[in-house]
Amino acid sequence: MFRRIKPYILQEPVERSQGPVVPAIGDVVIKLVGVKKIYVTGTVKTWGLRGVDLEVYKGEFVSIMGPSGSGKSTLLNMMGLLDKPTEGKIIIDGRNAAELSSKELAYLRNRKIGFVFQSFNLINRYTVLENIELPLVVRSIPRRIRIEKAKKALLMAGGDLSWLPKRPIQLSGGQQQRVAIARALVGDPEIILADEPTGNLDRASSRAVIETFTRLNKQGQTIIMVTHDPEVANCTEKIYLLRDGRIIGVKEPDFDKCILKTVPPAKK
Ligand SMILES: Nc1ncnc2c1ncn2[C@@H]1O[C@H](COP(=O)(O)OP(=O)(O)OP(=O)(O)O)[C@@H](O)[C@H]1O
Ligand SMILES: [Mg+2]
Repeated sequence: MFRRIKPYILQEPVERSQGPVVPAIGDVVIKLVGVKKIYVTGTVKTWGLRGVDLEVYKGEFVSIMGPSGSGKSTLLNMMGLLDKPTEGKIIIDGRNAAELSSKELAYLRNRKIGFVFQSFNLINRYTVLENIELPLVVRSIPRRIRIEKAKKALLMAGGDLSWLPKRPIQLSGGQQQRVAIARALVGDPEIILADEPTGNLDRASSRAVIETFTRLNKQGQTIIMVTHDPEVANCTEKIYLLRDGRIIGVKEPDFDKCILKTVPPAKK
């Protein structure tokens, strides 16, 4: 009911050494080839990623799970072009990110990617409207059109237009998360990257966020989501398992254990 039929067959969890799980059908929106990340702090080197190969197809809704410190945020930051790999390639829009200038990278980040951060990252001295509009201000879109788009994005994210003049701090965590999703959506990105979008939320608010993502995905939106919550991951189409900087397998979600089934919808 919630799931669209996709042009691939979901399979049992497999080890990476058994080869790719998903046949290459459709457009690849983002591809990682041998991506490694080493963080250097003074003389200390920390592995973020130890070699990740990953292809995400247009219209996919995938989740990434793994223990704390396994590299989930590092992986998402790489895909969002917020940070550069130490080794390996990130191919987005058919172009190797390493070969792009900082201006071109900023352009891609602004046009292609909508980022939802775990901590919302909303600016409290701005109103909800101003927060949502931000990605469009950079594009020099006239204010009238920005307001229209911000309203549309907020409704798409399951929010309420009465929030627009408020400051984020005047909203609940679940409401703020919907504003953060609206800001990610407003520029009509090709990919939504969400880092623990339900991490700070209660069950009902988590359900609302997943309802939103599921609805957007049905409309064709590609979504890549990091989560610790199995009931959230089970609502996606594919669960990548990350351990110690590597993808160790891909798991088939159990939709009967998705939060949309386990938690009742909020009463209107
Ligand atoms: N800016 C940084 N400088 C140094 N080390 C870092 C930095 N960011 C991440 N790391 C290290 O890289 C590894 C992976 O971190 P990452 O934040 O990607 O983990 P995670 O899977 O997102 O964990 P969590 O579930 O706790 O959010 C960890 O060992 C972490 O300490
Ligand atoms: Mg993290």
